[in-house]
Amino acid sequence: MFKKETYIARREQLRKDVGHGIIILPGNHEAPCNYKDNTYWFRQDSTFLYFFGLQREDLVGVLDCETGKDYLFANDYDIDDIIWTGPLPSVKELAESVGVENSGSMKDLRKYLDGKRPTSALPHYLPPYRADIRADLSEWLGLVLGSVNRHASMELILACVKQRSIKSAEEIEEIEKAIATAYNMHVGAMKLAMPGRYEYELAGFMEGEAWKGNGPVSFPVIMTVHGETLHNHGHNNRLEVGRMLVMDAGCETSMNYCSDITRTVPVGGKFNERQKTIYEIVLNANLEAARVTRPGITYKEVHTAASRVLAQGYKNLGILKGSVDDIVANGAHSLLMPHGLGHMMGLDVHDMENYGQINVGYDNETRPSEQFGLGSLRCGRRLQPGFVITDEPGCYFIPALIDKWRAEGTNKDFVNFDELEKWKDFGGIRIEDDILVTETGCRVLGKPIPKTVKEIEETMAS
Ligand code: GLY
Ligand code: MN
Ligand code: MN
Repeated sequence: MFKKETYIARREQLRKDVGHGIIILPGNHEAPCNYKDNTYWFRQDSTFLYFFGLQREDLVGVLDCETGKDYLFANDYDIDDIIWTGPLPSVKELAESVGVENSGSMKDLRKYLDGKRPTSALPHYLPPYRADIRADLSEWLGLVLGSVNRHASMELILACVKQRSIKSAEEIEEIEKAIATAYNMHVGAMKLAMPGRYEYELAGFMEGEAWKGNGPVSFPVIMTVHGETLHNHGHNNRLEVGRMLVMDAGCETSMNYCSDITRTVPVGGKFNERQKTIYEIVLNANLEAARVTRPGITYKEVHTAASRVLAQGYKNLGILKGSVDDIVANGAHSLLMPHGLGHMMGLDVHDMENYGQINVGYDNETRPSEQFGLGSLRCGRRLQPGFVITDEPGCYFIPALIDKWRAEGTNKDFVNFDELEKWKDFGGIRIEDDILVTETGCRVLGKPIPKTVKEIEETMAS
């Protein structure tokens, strides 16, 4: 946990920004896997973590904007719990540890809410992404279950986005810890990427390295020789020379700050000419994005700058044709990268996505595009110092998509479909770093993880 003053200041700011009424911030419950007492690992809600920092299940935070008081509600454990869990702090002690002066049981929460009901509008709450929290809100607030998400507070969403988008120095330190563990995950896995091994062995190694850093992976590991499937979570393939292996994986620290890193390596440790050619096009796009990222530029513009590098590379290769301006304006390069350049990262790997992506990645000035590819850009807004975003261009030869575009004649003026046939068995490549927008530009976070052809070949040979 950070010092309690951090959480006090964050809550104070939130009360000020929302300005009226009360704010309910429920923490998560345990989530049963196959029966009640056999749970998935506990993951606290990120908003709750941001404002209260506490890891226990079943906690409910309340901020009263009218009185300036903060509350923590939950039932204390009794001896029947403690014989299974060992001694645990009381709710009052937990509250005091993060500077909350008022605490009570769940019965007290109901009394508190009933006392507010005659005079107050509906409390502010965020759109729940778990069914049990939706049911709680429905019951506490007397709302029909199906209407709970509709009544979520846009004022609260925007106030949370405002604060959480700007990462403090202590948050950056945590994120860099997560990247230090990701370094071990990726460099170790690179060395294991030899013919005869199976994807699941490397994925398992990465999970183990994440836990050695005292946290889980930040999302299910992507470890695949079929990287043309963007989020391929299957791990059953045997590694063979000639395949590129996409490794997209990160971890969380014990405070749940994330890393999200992708490296793509040639099985066996040596790039062939085709692999090197495509790899360097993607690498140049990744470097170009970091070169132009600075405060004031929109991330949509950064996406476009990276897209131009990709388009030029494919044009040189004869896969695309026409001017780079026209290719990018028409989204023809999206055939080979049908996703956006990146997303915000912090306490969530896709930070704050539970608030509704459009509320996080866009604003009144910037709106998502409807064009294929660009429409999947999760963050298009103007960048500010303190934003942490991912820089993750890729190249994917997706046979079904190539066939579809060819049959439909989509972007036929810019795509050389005959030439593209030769690449359909290639697979995919993605390269991903986590970057911090600074006052003057940006900084790729963490200790550099081997990324150039030379660095990867040297690492895999060692
Ligand atoms: N790891 C998922 C992503 O890169 O967005
Ligand atoms: Mn990733
Ligand atoms: Mn990512």
